[in-house]
Parts: sequence; C-alpha cells; structure tokens
Amino acid sequence: MRSYSFTHAITRKPSASIVAGLRAVDTGAPDLGLMQRHHADYVAALRSTGATVVELDALEAFPDSVFVEDTALCLPEGAVVMRPGAPSRLGEAAEMAPHLRALYSDVERIAGAESFIEGGDILTTETEILVGRSARTNAAGIEELTRLVTPWGHRVREVFTPPGVLHFKTDCSLLDGETILSTARLAASGCFAGYRVILVAEGEEACANTIRFNDLVIMPAGFPKTRERLDQAGYQVAEIGNSECAKLDGGMSCLSLRFSPS
Ligand code: GLY
Repeated sequence: MRSYSFTHAITRKPSASIVAGLRAVDTGAPDLGLMQRHHADYVAALRSTGATVVELDALEAFPDSVFVEDTALCLPEGAVVMRPGAPSRLGEAAEMAPHLRALYSDVERIAGAESFIEGGDILTTETEILVGRSARTNAAGIEELTRLVTPWGHRVREVFTPPGVLHFKTDCSLLDGETILSTARLAASGCFAGYRVILVAEGEEACANTIRFNDLVIMPAGFPKTRERLDQAGYQVAEIGNSECAKLDGGMSCLSLRFSPS
C-alpha cells in the first residue's frame, strides 16, 4: 500500500479549553466556533476520499488534544503510542491508546521516563521514517521508536527540525512516494536528498504543513502561490481554513492520525 493511501483516520473535536492551547507567540485566542467549522470541513474532506473517519469527543482536560497526530505513529503493522515532550500534552497519548487498540492487534508505546517524541516530528515516506529532533522530540525517544518499528521492517532516520520551528512537519509534507513539499530553510539542510522537492513559495512557509490523503492534497487556505505550484504539478488540492489552529502552531497534519491497519 502507498504511504499516502489510507483506509482510516482518527480526529478529535476541539474543546472549549482550546483557548489555553500552547503557542510559540500569542496572536490572540482561537475562536472555538470558527475552529469547529474548519474542523468539520477537514473531516468532510478526509471522508470524501472514501476513508472511515473516527471522530472522538472533545477532551476539556487537554487544550491541545485536537492535535491528535502528536499522540501516535500509525503504521500498517501496528501503532506506537508517543510520549509528548510538552508536559501538558503527556496525558493525551494515554487517552488515544484504547482507540488504537480497537483497530490494531499490535499497539506498542514509548515508555522510557527520559524518552520524548511527538508525531508531528515524524514523516513516513515510502522507504523510511524521518524523525526530526526538536524541542519536543529527543534522541532517547527516537531510539526507542527505532527499536519498536525495526522488527516491523521500517528504517528510521534521525534528522533535525529547524531551530524555532515546533515540529519537523511544520515545515514539510509528503505529496507522493517520491515528492516532498518543503520550506526552503528545511530543504537547505539536505535531509531530502534523493526525493523530488517542491518548495512552498517565499512568504508562504505556513502552508508547508499539508497532507496527502488518498487522492487529495489537503492544504490550509490562503496560500495562492504554493497552490498554483501544486496545481501545476498535477495534484488534486482541497483548501481548508486553518486560521484558528494556526494561532496554536497547528496545521493539516496535526488534526488527524491517518492509517491502514493490516
Ligand atoms: N499547540 C500545539 C502544540 O504546541 O503542541
């Protein structure tokens, strides 16, 4: 199965506590009503590809819990429950575990007290799993993940999230088996050697966090130059409003776990 073909996704509704979500720079509180509308559009886009989308209830105790991607890595052979590096988000992973057990026979977890890793730092391509070390993901977390997924036949490569950037995938996305959408600053690190790279337009770095989900490339609305590049490259693009998640450094990948359990 291709690394962008998925039968399932899990999302979680935003909670009213989202106003207390983590952010690098405070640009104002997110508007819950608008975020809920954007979220519904996002779920509809996932469903339009024919996938089954599990929509979990909001979790008031965890302001950032709408960003489910950080709680797990889902591979065809099994799922690995993460250990988020943000203390306020640690409990989100345990909340996700039973939903993964309902769909997978093999669910492992990052367990080391000193191991931290968030799904936003993990890009799974056709041939390897790239994990960006960041303020949320450390060497011990990457080492533990490697030990868990190597027996499943996966190769992990440690890379680096640019300084000041929340997650590795804040700055890149998989567009197809050979192609990555990236910011110029991340591509300049050389970590995508061997891949075809499409750069986001200058000034549109905030749309590098996009997802390929079955036939669709789902990108945040309002980045016309990059949209044109994707259109010209032949992708079928859907734009989803992201103004409220962006206030919390969140984007298209953060809002779902995408997978095909075997
Ligand atoms: N607000 C998303 C995060 O910082 O994890």
